[in-house]
Amino acid sequence: MKIVNSHNEWDPLEEIILGVPDFWCTPQKEPGYLPTSRTGKQSDEYIHKAALQIDNLERVLRFQCNVTVRRPDKIDFTQPVRTPFFSIEHQHGASCPRDTLLVIGNEIIESTMSSRARYFESMAYRTILNDYFEKDEDMLWTMAPKPTMSENMYNSDFPFDTNCQERKDWIQNYKYVINEAEPCFDAAEVLRLGKDLIVQQSMTANRKGIDWLRRHVKSRGYRVHEVHFPGDLNPVHIDASLVPLVPPTNERKGILVNPPDRPITKEDKDRIFTGSSWEILDAPFPNSMVVPESCESSAWLSINLLMVGPDKAIVEETEIPTINFLESLGIKCIRVPYRDSYRFGGSIHCQTSDVRRIGECHNYFP
Ligand code: NVA
Repeated sequence: MKIVNSHNEWDPLEEIILGVPDFWCTPQKEPGYLPTSRTGKQSDEYIHKAALQIDNLERVLRFQCNVTVRRPDKIDFTQPVRTPFFSIEHQHGASCPRDTLLVIGNEIIESTMSSRARYFESMAYRTILNDYFEKDEDMLWTMAPKPTMSENMYNSDFPFDTNCQERKDWIQNYKYVINEAEPCFDAAEVLRLGKDLIVQQSMTANRKGIDWLRRHVKSRGYRVHEVHFPGDLNPVHIDASLVPLVPPTNERKGILVNPPDRPITKEDKDRIFTGSSWEILDAPFPNSMVVPESCESSAWLSINLLMVGPDKAIVEETEIPTINFLESLGIKCIRVPYRDSYRFGGSIHCQTSDVRRIGECHNYFP
């Protein structure tokens, strides 16, 4: 039985993993991360509010879109962790399978992660992965090399103040909080466009991690491209920075959008996308630049949406400019309330990981 098969972000969706907000914690300060809100377990009120919206999304996926939905195990991530290299008082949560699991065709890779609080996060998906492995004889199950996450993996002099010039200089020079000591990447730094994987070098993916991925998929004909959005002073995960909204057809190019206030570099754009089946347009501005209290993502969660087919997307209901933009391009929008979930690591794209879409792996690049 074929279960795992997903090559891109838009083919007709059949099966998906949807995160859970239970036991979710804002990580404490660690060498690679400085919290901007209260650390520790999220309040029961916020967990409850998010659970209502996430459970509603599950119903929409199941009953309106006919998609099989799997949910991770509810592990108590409020517990401390001690490894030979570090100890922390609590962990993070399994709200965002996109951050952890990278699905490339018939393979699911548990990514290395880069934050100590997320060291054991993929364990929440082990029941599902084991089940897929038993039922789908073609499924490949890989765990990328676990980093030590010891002190020397992080730049201790990284400027955490997002307003200082020094921070801007670091990001302009493609220097981030993680260094090149060990390969590192969060799965959510990878945008899948068929045979081409676009990966953001960032606070959560270093060049060695990107190279690990490149070597890992090379023999199957994939190409891995590194990209940057230097206007983003906290670059963490590509899925609110470069998002496909319209897939390419024989008649027209596909459309990717990026936030106009933190676009892809001209060098990356020209080098990777010239002659491809894609054009990159400005994303419409979010409905509001204000995010819910204790949300650590930007307002660009407005484009962190889920395509359930080439002409259908699930979008947060208040993100009207995004919805209007999509509908003007012929993409039907299913609107769901989701803002209460924004404080759990992202929006609809972050909190899902598509496991099976009907379609094959195509080449959209020269
Ligand atoms: N960290 C990025 C991406 C979130 C999905 C942002 O906040 O825009």
